[in-house]
Amino acid sequence: MIVGVLKEARAGENRVSATPATIEPMRKLGYDVVVDSGAGVAAGFTDSAYEAAGATIGAAAAADVVLAVNAPSPAQLDDVRPEATVIALFAPAFDPAMVEELGRRPFTALSMDAVPRISRAQSMDVLSSMANIAGYRAVVEAAHAFGRFFTGQVTAAGKVPPAKVLVAGAGVAGLAAIGAAGSLGAIVRATDPRPEVADQVRSLGGEYLSIASPEVEVSKTGYAKEMGDDYKAREVELYGAQCRDVDIVITTALIPGRPAPTLITAEMVAGMKPGSVIVDMAAANGGNVVGTVAGERVVTENGVTIIGYTDLAGRLPAQASQLYGTNLVNLLKLMTPDKDGSLVLDWDDPVQRSITVVRAGESAWPPPPVQVSAAPAAAPAAAPEPAKPKKAPMTPAQRFGGVAIAALALFLAAGFAPAALLPHVTVFVLAIVIGYYVIGHVHHALHTPLMSVTNAISGIIVVGALLQIGHSSTAVTVLSFVAILLASINVFGGFAVTRRMLAMFNRS
Ligand code: NAI
Repeated sequence: MIVGVLKEARAGENRVSATPATIEPMRKLGYDVVVDSGAGVAAGFTDSAYEAAGATIGAAAAADVVLAVNAPSPAQLDDVRPEATVIALFAPAFDPAMVEELGRRPFTALSMDAVPRISRAQSMDVLSSMANIAGYRAVVEAAHAFGRFFTGQVTAAGKVPPAKVLVAGAGVAGLAAIGAAGSLGAIVRATDPRPEVADQVRSLGGEYLSIASPEVEVSKTGYAKEMGDDYKAREVELYGAQCRDVDIVITTALIPGRPAPTLITAEMVAGMKPGSVIVDMAAANGGNVVGTVAGERVVTENGVTIIGYTDLAGRLPAQASQLYGTNLVNLLKLMTPDKDGSLVLDWDDPVQRSITVVRAGESAWPPPPVQVSAAPAAAPAAAPEPAKPKKAPMTPAQRFGGVAIAALALFLAAGFAPAALLPHVTVFVLAIVIGYYVIGHVHHALHTPLMSVTNAISGIIVVGALLQIGHSSTAVTVLSFVAILLASINVFGGFAVTRRMLAMFNRS
């Protein structure tokens, strides 16, 4: 089959649905790729770059599988063949007119923005990949409009305080914004009604501002729910105080299937310092801020800039195209099970079913809901465990008897064993007691780094065992061999674990 890469029809769209780098994996799946002339120019990809990657330049709308970022124009749709499949961001959940328009067409239409947020579909999750880029870009836009350092500095010419950034909503876009603002040196705070994001916020260097309301609970779906009056009242108090204090506010709050919640009121904006900046990422869904104009940058009377751009991801077009193109390649991989260049729509696969707006001319929207549980499903109520019979505590006589037997055994060992044994046993017992208290009380999360540190101890064991392995007694030789083996596993395992941990922090 032929995959066609459309030139975007929407004015101002800089992204493209395939880059030269995503052509090769499509060809490996058995597809030939045709790209509209000039399709990638706005993202920095020339026709010759596509040709060098193995694509041809031609009429993409006539292909068997037509790829686009936004919904193609009616004229482009007219050119699509009846048996073809069109894959784009149709936004069927928000655009009933588009669903109707597609329903009148004979082909199959798949919408990438309907990929359910389940682990298996993560590699196709366009909303996440775009929100990640947009969160980063929101910080760049804010920094540009702010016109001052984000980081604090002490210079010979004076002290510059760090900027304070508040991120409302710590989902995909919010976390990306927290990371970007933090890396520029700002003091970052974040809010979210889902308390489970607190650790993620902290791991990115942010401070999680919790709202002490009985309504706050760990989300069962991974998404926020509409909050009640108690939460909203406390939220108003928190945002009011924060707006007076911070320099930048980035709002990303979203509740699926509902208009964006209003978080920042006109009074809060009026209470902000002149020169402050708000980036309302939810502008396209109605906005989180009173005064946002979708797609525009406005400055209020008190000098606060409110940015309501709805194309933040498209403002980094090369990277956005690359990630979107990769999301599409992953979908093609899923839908090309035999890697033979023929697209197969598996109706029983919840991911493929969820994104199908029209199947061969028949409307398939809306799809059945998919369980997108981020939290583990509640385990069936287990039968109560039978109560264990309680151990009777030792009587003083038993305890005294036990100590007496142990003392006698030690006395006999000291009296009859070779002289060298006693100091060894003493060191051994002390090592057990100290080891138990030192290592046994280390938090579980630190066991892996601890293991890499214990290489030194294992090294000493290896040296000791090497000195003993040539001993005349077979038992000593065998024990030395076992000691070398076990300690070596620890040494090499420790190195491997340390390498992996260091690789996690490697930016190249
Ligand atoms: P997400 O669903 O991952 O995150 C939304 C977060 O908002 C969730 O963590 C949720 O718990 C939180 N939230 C809900 N109610 C809240 C409240 N009252 N206070 C504070 N937090 C609250 O969504 P994602 O992917 O991060 O997208 C965020 C927003 O950014 C969406 O509105 C999306 O449409 C928009 N977006 C905008 C772009 C642009 O160019 N302007 C580009 C990409 C995304």
